[in-house]
Amino acid sequence: MSKIITLPGLIDTHVHLREPGATQKEDFQTGTKAAIAGGFTQVLDMPNNPIATINPEALSSKKKLAEGRVYCDIGFHFGASESSVQYFPQVAEQVFGLKVYMNQTTGDLLMSDDQVLEKVFSSWPKEKVLMVHAEGETLEKAISLAKRFGNKQSLRSGDLKLHVCHVSLKREIELIKAAKAEGMKISCEVACHHLFLKDTDVERLGSYGMMKPPLESKEDQEVLWQAVIDGTIDIVASDHAPHTREEKMGEKPMFGVPGLETTLPLLLTAVNDGRLSLDRLIELTHTNPKRIFSLPEQENTFVEVDPAIRYTLNAERLFTKCGWTPFNGMEVTGRVKKVVLREQLVYDGQNIFGPYGKVI
Ligand code: DOR
Ligand code: ZN
Ligand code: ZN
Repeated sequence: MSKIITLPGLIDTHVHLREPGATQKEDFQTGTKAAIAGGFTQVLDMPNNPIATINPEALSSKKKLAEGRVYCDIGFHFGASESSVQYFPQVAEQVFGLKVYMNQTTGDLLMSDDQVLEKVFSSWPKEKVLMVHAEGETLEKAISLAKRFGNKQSLRSGDLKLHVCHVSLKREIELIKAAKAEGMKISCEVACHHLFLKDTDVERLGSYGMMKPPLESKEDQEVLWQAVIDGTIDIVASDHAPHTREEKMGEKPMFGVPGLETTLPLLLTAVNDGRLSLDRLIELTHTNPKRIFSLPEQENTFVEVDPAIRYTLNAERLFTKCGWTPFNGMEVTGRVKKVVLREQLVYDGQNIFGPYGKVI
């Protein structure tokens, strides 16, 4: 009999559950079932839907759609655009962060006009997180904008809470380390696929290994792992970004991979291999996301895992609607056995019960 470990309900601050507008890929029911099966009891959903979450109507209709249909708790991020700045004061209280797309990716939210970016950085309320999708050089720009427009009154650096999504490059880690050393309020997350896959896997995976930012070199990956251990990286997120098999196999494959059900098994495998401590795993997937995004407490909520079970990740056993994973066939050690949300059993290792989730 191997020993069972109890973890707090994990928090994923970066998921794309695709509702409304792209429910062929995922919806609130299947996406939050996948979250629960993966040990996540709280998720924050991104705004890059076909009809983007960039005005109060889109936000409230998204919230209404989620109401009564989610298996874990769910909160939302607002999208930055030229037209959405006017709504910042009105919506800030109802969301957990603002997402600013500074590189081209899925959706229609790329921001390239410097003047609009300056407006976005100076207008988003300072007590709320401003998240950037900023790859490589673009991150330099994001950091400098945060310094220049972080505080309307004094232009003092670091007053804005900048959060860097899915770091993937050595250069990005260097920039974030330097900014942290200067005392900037900056945090960052790494997506699990950048920790467990690299550019050499793309040949084998084809479009199932394609996402933004892309998989990078072994050297970059080693730097990411060091940053996970030394605390430069604050959060591990899934960046769960499902697309259908057809969308991945088409002429112009879409970028993104699912990750809600594979993140915890992969991290537990790293714990088993002695690459990561269990304490650090809990900081990266619970304590830090909760603190950085000021998330509410979930009472009597926990996850039981068997850290010693070895098995093969199997795309056929997933709850995500997309039905595939870039980690299919990978041997892992550590399995979610049970999830309890506010005293309710919501997962017994096989079946999901509910929906008992709340819109937060
Ligand atoms: O690969 C990605 N997929 N990167 C993103 O930034 C967006 C995401 C999506 O929504 O598909
Ligand atoms: Zn992104
Ligand atoms: Zn994303």
